[in-house]
Amino acid sequence: MLPQQRLELAIDIAREAGEKIVAARHGQAFNQRLKNGQELVTDVDVAVDTLISERLEASLPGEQRLSEELTPDREVMSTAESLWVIDPIDGTVNFAHGLRHVAVSIAWVSEGKTRLGVVHAPFLGETYTALYGQGAWCNGKPIHASRTGNLQRCLVATGFPYRRDSRPPLMRRLMAVLEHCQDVRRNGSAALDLCDVACGRLDAYYESVSPWDFAAGVLIAREAGARTGHLYPCPKGIPEDLYGENILVSAPEIHAELGDLLRAADANELRYD
Ligand code: IPD
Ligand code: CA
Ligand code: CA
Repeated sequence: MLPQQRLELAIDIAREAGEKIVAARHGQAFNQRLKNGQELVTDVDVAVDTLISERLEASLPGEQRLSEELTPDREVMSTAESLWVIDPIDGTVNFAHGLRHVAVSIAWVSEGKTRLGVVHAPFLGETYTALYGQGAWCNGKPIHASRTGNLQRCLVATGFPYRRDSRPPLMRRLMAVLEHCQDVRRNGSAALDLCDVACGRLDAYYESVSPWDFAAGVLIAREAGARTGHLYPCPKGIPEDLYGENILVSAPEIHAELGDLLRAADANELRYD
């Protein structure tokens, strides 16, 4: 199946998944629990992952998938020729609290490059899409990242890992951004943070996340003209498009300066009076 047809399939599936998410909220009948000690997961996350996986399997039997709830084994990132990467609900905490910043994220990676991405936000009525080398769109209209060159005016998004012991070092980055940029947002969906960079509402986004959180969104941001990359070198053996540690995605002109600032914060080189 051609990438364009795969994209159309992924859009249809993401929209069907979105309808299930909206219906589940209206019904309010879902259980919540913690996985891995600290991560919230609801019945809806699992049900939506099942729906997406069944739909993909029906149309493209036997194709490999990496999905947060059903098939989260990351081994496949280094072995598969091509791979679907799925986050059934990005923004589970938002979903459980009745907030609207929630998305379905589906990407398809082949020969180490993300070829297409869909991020569908059912409560916001926005579907972001991108095709490798061909551009990025919101509800079918082309989108473009910010062209700012002024770090002081940048609105920067980030997030924090569920593991609380991983959070204290990130406070140094937060201080640096609050001091040198306009302000910070923590909106609770990495996929939508990346789409907000893609359409210029945010100037930058940095975080360490899992492959399913960012695979679709990072292609959408790149195809919209944002610069995408990592603060530190990536390990060999897995595609950089799926390596989620220390990612930085921003307006092209501020990428180097913001990267330097975040690395200086990590090295504890910054002083505030
Ligand atoms: C989370 C969201 C959040 C980010 C976390 C992710 P989830 O995904 O993307 O914005 O800060 O790192 O785990 O758990 O809602 O699918
Ligand atoms: Ca996620
Ligand atoms: Ca999720």
